[in-house]
Amino acid sequence: MKKFYITTPIYYVNAKPHLGSAYTTIAADVLARFHRMKGEKVFFLTGTDEHGAKVAQAAFKKKIKPQELCDQNSAKYQEVWDTLKISYDNFIRTTNSEHEAMVSRILERLENKNLIYKDTYQGLYCVDCERYYTSKELINGECPIHRKKAISLSEDCYFFKLSIFQQKLLKIIKSSKLIVEPIERRNELLSFLERNKLEDLAISRTNVKWGISLPWEPKQTIYVWVDALLNYLSGLGWNGETNRISNQWPPDVQLLGKDILRFHAVIWPALLLALDIPLPHKLYIHGFFTINGQKMGKSMGNAIDPEEMAEVFGVDALRWLMLSSFPFGRDGDISQSKFYDKYNADLCNGLGNLLRRVLALAEKSSDTFGPSKNIEQKFSKEIKILWKNYETSFDKLKFEAITTSIQDFIGFCDRYIDKNEPWKLFKNDFDQYKDVIYNLLESLRHIAWLVRPFMPDKSEEILKDLGIESSEKKKTLMTGKQWGRTSFEKISLGKVLFPRL
Ligand code: MSP
Repeated sequence: MKKFYITTPIYYVNAKPHLGSAYTTIAADVLARFHRMKGEKVFFLTGTDEHGAKVAQAAFKKKIKPQELCDQNSAKYQEVWDTLKISYDNFIRTTNSEHEAMVSRILERLENKNLIYKDTYQGLYCVDCERYYTSKELINGECPIHRKKAISLSEDCYFFKLSIFQQKLLKIIKSSKLIVEPIERRNELLSFLERNKLEDLAISRTNVKWGISLPWEPKQTIYVWVDALLNYLSGLGWNGETNRISNQWPPDVQLLGKDILRFHAVIWPALLLALDIPLPHKLYIHGFFTINGQKMGKSMGNAIDPEEMAEVFGVDALRWLMLSSFPFGRDGDISQSKFYDKYNADLCNGLGNLLRRVLALAEKSSDTFGPSKNIEQKFSKEIKILWKNYETSFDKLKFEAITTSIQDFIGFCDRYIDKNEPWKLFKNDFDQYKDVIYNLLESLRHIAWLVRPFMPDKSEEILKDLGIESSEKKKTLMTGKQWGRTSFEKISLGKVLFPRL
């Protein structure tokens, strides 16, 4: 059986997810559901990133232990993911003891390979990013993301010999041994690697207490990003000891936002090369949800709560709106009013209205609607192209293009009704009426399959209305996407699919 391993970044635990941060995970979930629908064995990993100064500071403010804060916030993440119907296979927490033990072992492995040394580090540090910046990267001495002054820090710590991997990294990215998409991000990365000399990476801290201790010098804690990146390996149950990781390894795709590109496309592959572990096939870097051009984020004070949005639009609709509003690789400005307009246009007047129109027309007759001898060529051709584009667009993570092509198909069906006027055919040409309705019911069955990864429950509701829910459940996409083999006999006009807001 074909397998598919997909990861999202693990989330900083000192907050609850906002709509922007939920974007990566919803996209990953849609992708995971698509591959499961194809009958593939999927492993979808997400989780919470729980160490570091920020978490310790937040716990201190709340007068609780860092672990207690992590437990509370990680539970909150899982609760929100459940609400948003995120079907992860494992939720990894970096304070889990297996993960911690694995990270220590990996550090020992690197030390044994002579890839770690001790030195003094001095630099400009952003507490919110938990990273040092070069003075060139800062804007007026401020971190480019949080717009807060970076502080000058100096500490004795251990370094990973990142610099020796510069040429190898260039080679693997240029040769697409590690695919980085979209092209703009790949170019950005290549130009960074070509124009700058990579420096060795400080991988331990003396001033951060809330972290995994360095095995040979426990006063030092392991740099939170090294700890966090290794979740992609420990999340598969690997303990860092054996040579066999898991047959899910390596990931087919790792999704991430553009703010964490270099961690994933420089440090992460360098660590894997250092450890002789196969690289992920692809990194896909998506854009930001912005509000008036500014990245949505808790520290920016413009975060939208996904739970509140889910209450307004319903979870399935929210998932659809988030992925259909702009191309995945780009930034997109969003607002509740834009979502309202799109909800009404695409879902209420589009899919919901088509379903009601067709069901009302089909209900005129109590006959079974079976495949006609003269299958409408136009439909089977249209559907074949649609599925082909759908699958290739999924491979390229073009979620927005997928939703647009489904919208176009809904429009095609609407025009077909207007042109054929089945309400007249019902009286004048019953056979023709039945053929027309059959094509429309069959189209709705296809639409239920097409929208399933985005809107799993709405898909089921459509199939229920068509009276074929249990038989369709037994199929995989291979058979589901065939045209003209299903009969419809128990059609019922159920509740409105997308109530008008
Ligand atoms: N903890 C690190 C990742 C460690 S992975 C080994 C982290 N966490 S995060 O909570 O800040 O971000 C999680 C994901 O949400 C990232 O992919 C990030 O790019 C994404 N987003 C956070 N805000 C976003 C928007 N406003 N818009 C789209 N995605 C954004 O980074």
